[in-house]
Amino acid sequence: MNLDKAKENIQKAGFLEVETPKDMDFAKEILKLKKEKNAVILAHYYQEPAIQDIADFVGDSLQLSYKAAEVDADLIVFAGVHFMAETAKILNPQKKVVLPDLNAGCSLADSCPPDALQKLKDKHPDHIVITYVNTSAEVKAISDLCCTSSNAKKIVDSVPLDQPIIFAPDRNLGAWIKKVTGRDMLLWDGACVVHEAFSIDKLINTHKTYPNAKIIAHPESEDHILKTAEYIGSTSGLINYAKTNPAKEFIVATEAGILHEMQKEVPNKKLIPAPAVEDNSCACSECPYMKMNNMQKLYLCMKYELPEVHVSEDIQKKALIPIQRMLDISSRK
Ligand code: 13P
Ligand code: SF4
Repeated sequence: MNLDKAKENIQKAGFLEVETPKDMDFAKEILKLKKEKNAVILAHYYQEPAIQDIADFVGDSLQLSYKAAEVDADLIVFAGVHFMAETAKILNPQKKVVLPDLNAGCSLADSCPPDALQKLKDKHPDHIVITYVNTSAEVKAISDLCCTSSNAKKIVDSVPLDQPIIFAPDRNLGAWIKKVTGRDMLLWDGACVVHEAFSIDKLINTHKTYPNAKIIAHPESEDHILKTAEYIGSTSGLINYAKTNPAKEFIVATEAGILHEMQKEVPNKKLIPAPAVEDNSCACSECPYMKMNNMQKLYLCMKYELPEVHVSEDIQKKALIPIQRMLDISSRK
């Protein structure tokens, strides 16, 4: 394939549009490429099951950041969304990072353009800015600290009590952190399209059908959903809770991709996806961005090492500071 043409094509489509044989065994070819290229595949829990099964490491966004910081492979293949691959690049600027589909964005990251955040910062010069990792590299570059859903409380708690905070971009995670820390933070008004799609009425009905099930939820969900939950936590927190809690049934309010790994961990427990407002094929919530990646795109991006994730040197250096602070605080006992 002509690489210049391929690059041109990526600029238009966001991914490689190359035909592959109908009967191609993508899993086999991907494993071959992994060896040949000394590549590592990092995948988020929301990726389709076949991708999770072939990945070297599957985790939540914090675990994936730690992994990205320590890998010594030549090629980092990120099966997740753009901000996650960008974080891997920021942590490992010497390494080539590829993402199967550059369109795999995030509604939270989109809700917070850097110039708008800068305006809010200018209005509140005494505030520090804590941003959820679901943001662009440019937003991280003007942040003081980053956090993920699994360490947000710890990160906010690390800030002196008299220090005012702007928290962006997730209003639901922010509101929950305000509640659990007792801090009065200024919240950005962004949200996750997937976690805001859960229907409280349908959830209550589902609970009537499974009265012994424990409701567990990701903190990007709205307050009325979180109020029904016995446990609130990140994707890895939810898996761990289902594993360690003696209950036999769980209603899981997060993206449905998590059920794959969760079910592997608790083969004898019943997992019920929390219902979304709009019924779709699985009557659950799927992230349209996470699901842009598939095995064919994963294979192609490894074969051609395209599309590549780039971050300018200036932004990389600035964005690394709040991410590194987060990793340092997060690993404190
Ligand atoms: P986690 O940090 O819990 O993996 O969540 C990432 C995410 O995008 C949730 O929608
Ligand atoms: Fe972004 Fe929501 Fe998709 Fe997570 S589930 S990547 S927060 S749009």
